[in-house]
Amino acid sequence: MSDERKLLEVSDLKQYFPVAGSRDVVHAVDGVSFHINKGETFGLVGESGCGKTTTGRSILRLTEPTSGRIVFDGDVLFDSQTGEKAKMLPYRRRMQIVFQDPYASLDPRMTVGDIVGEPMDIHKLFSNKEERQARILELLSHVGLNSEHANRYPHEFSGGQRQRVGIARALAVDPEFIVCDEPVSALDVSIQAQVVNMFEDLQRELGLTYLFIAHDLSIVNHISDRIGVMYLGHLVEVASSDELIFHSAHPYTKSLISAVPIADPKTARKSKRIVLEGDVPSPVNPPSGCPFRTRCPYQTEVCSQSMPELAEIAPGHQAACHHIDKVGE
Ligand SMILES: Nc1ncnc2c1ncn2[C@@H]1O[C@H](COP(=O)(O)OP(=O)(O)OP(=O)(O)O)[C@@H](O)[C@H]1O
Ligand SMILES: [Mg+2]
Repeated sequence: MSDERKLLEVSDLKQYFPVAGSRDVVHAVDGVSFHINKGETFGLVGESGCGKTTTGRSILRLTEPTSGRIVFDGDVLFDSQTGEKAKMLPYRRRMQIVFQDPYASLDPRMTVGDIVGEPMDIHKLFSNKEERQARILELLSHVGLNSEHANRYPHEFSGGQRQRVGIARALAVDPEFIVCDEPVSALDVSIQAQVVNMFEDLQRELGLTYLFIAHDLSIVNHISDRIGVMYLGHLVEVASSDELIFHSAHPYTKSLISAVPIADPKTARKSKRIVLEGDVPSPVNPPSGCPFRTRCPYQTEVCSQSMPELAEIAPGHQAACHHIDKVGE
């Protein structure tokens, strides 16, 4: 039975990529489970290469998952156990993506008007040219651009404006859900806040649900209702934003938080910087047991023997660690 508050349910999602010229596989996403409620923002945070983009793309089936189950608004999009695979075209309209790099993701030969209009054409939303044009202009104004911008080309815009075009394009088909894959990471810090605020305004106005991916915990914390922390293809902790920041339980989350500059002196006094030793292991050859154990100050024998489950440690707060009770404040 599906819960009507949930827009997206992801269960044990895996995405393995073959390594060219060998029998090795990259365990890019290795058994990730979470849900996103309607109208909320779920933030996904973690270091480069931990599998955030792959998770987002697999959910939209832009890359076909290796295994797992994806349910969108009660409909099964993918289930490796039953072999169910939905025809994606109708869902492409309801589920959109905004990419990190507004330079690479917009076709330089198309005008901004056509970039925004193209998804409408793919989904045959307008047969009337004037209505189509009016909708394009409406979308541009929605993202803080104007009608004059419609006839220009992407290279005539700044990075922030280009990202606004990418957002207008995603909105063109009236989606309910948007994967925002590091949508502000490539922008100047001064522009990042403007674009993040715009995402928030659009969410309120249009009732959107976001999967918001970023490696910057302070941005994710600002925009998200709940946050999932990824490490080496696994979710190691999931909680509401406040709970995660103030009561983090997993040693990896704690290290991420301790690396974020905190303006509040009361909080700053309590927190000591945790610097992790060593590098992230290769996803081609991940460690046995807990993926984090090779860098974890709390690791013991059990950590190499079995994978800790993502278990509920407080209402709405899950963490995957054998030694949660030992991990200090
Ligand atoms: N198409 C692909 N083929 C092979 N390996 C891939 C492919 N896409 C991603 N990977 C690998 O999967 C792992 C996860 O990559 P992914 O891009 O999902 O990480 P990420 O968390 O989004 O990182 P970043 O913060 O740098 O964007 C990496 O080791 C990456 O090299
Ligand atoms: Mg990425």
